[in-house]
Amino acid sequence: MILVTGATGTVGRQVVEQLVAEDQPVRAVARDPDSSGLPDGVEVVAGDLSDAVGLAPNLHGVDAVFLLWPFPTVESVRKLGPALINTLAAHVGRVVYLSATPAAQPPGGFWRAVEALIEVSGLEWTHLRPTGFAKNTLIWADQIRAGDVVRWPYPDAARSLIHERDIAAVAVQALVRDELIGAMPVISGPEAITQADQIAQIGTAIGRELSCEDMPQGEAVAELVARFGNADFARSALDVWAGFVTEPEVVTTAVAEVTGEPGRLFRDWAAEHADDFR
Ligand SMILES: NC(=O)c1ccc[n+]([C@@H]2O[C@H](COP(=O)([O-])OP(=O)(O)OC[C@H]3O[C@@H](n4cnc5c(N)ncnc54)[C@H](OP(=O)(O)O)[C@@H]3O)[C@@H](O)[C@H]2O)c1
Repeated sequence: MILVTGATGTVGRQVVEQLVAEDQPVRAVARDPDSSGLPDGVEVVAGDLSDAVGLAPNLHGVDAVFLLWPFPTVESVRKLGPALINTLAAHVGRVVYLSATPAAQPPGGFWRAVEALIEVSGLEWTHLRPTGFAKNTLIWADQIRAGDVVRWPYPDAARSLIHERDIAAVAVQALVRDELIGAMPVISGPEAITQADQIAQIGTAIGRELSCEDMPQGEAVAELVARFGNADFARSALDVWAGFVTEPEVVTTAVAEVTGEPGRLFRDWAAEHADDFR
């Protein structure tokens, strides 16, 4: 039995679907099971990751857990992490944690804090360290619906955006096979392309010619603070994109090596999600 947290989210929903396709017994956690929209045949249980005691009864019979940490601060890990990870360790054998590439750069943010707790828990573990998710580009959907020019900072920042199905495919291998125990693979899309090219490829997917216009730094800070609601996060996103202008985000072959299938291109993700931009 595999327990999937974040099962209604971008990656977790794919993990559930791929496990079902492999006839693996799946139990999915959602705060509101009735509105989860998960496939028939999946056992959906109510659970909140801030409530380890409440989660424990759902861990009986579970062999492995796909873990997403939904609280994006180090403080949240300090406050809630030990109880959750200790509860998992008391009931299950393995955890596959959806981390992120910044975990590798000290201090590594909340992702590294969760990883560190897992590593001393006695659990078998795999930390998945994906690059940026392709779905992040949905942040441009409103602008694209309104016109042909997307105003955005750092058009030349190149990212190796990864398709959610590829993250899930690696997660499934880590959950059901033993080869990735103790590994922390950096998983990425198969190429790094600039934000301007991402926008152009979304245009191709929806049959329009789209372009990107650089947004001055001051305006970009205000825009991102408004969108993310967090000035520190906004500034760190801008710093990261500035870095990707001179040094594109890392590209790895981990998806192909683990799954046997080449990683999906961003243009294929855009074609599949074209309606989300219309
Ligand atoms: N976006 C990126 O570029 C990127 C890159 C690397 C890593 N990541 C990491 O990926 C994770 C996000 O994954 P995602 O995009 O697949 O998620 P998502 O689509 O944002 O969905 C969030 C999920 O978390 C669940 N959730 C929220 N609060 C919860 C709580 N208190 N208790 C239990 N479940 C809760 C939600 O479930 P319910 O609402 O149904 O309960 C939902 O399934 C984050 O940890 C992020 O740091 C993101």
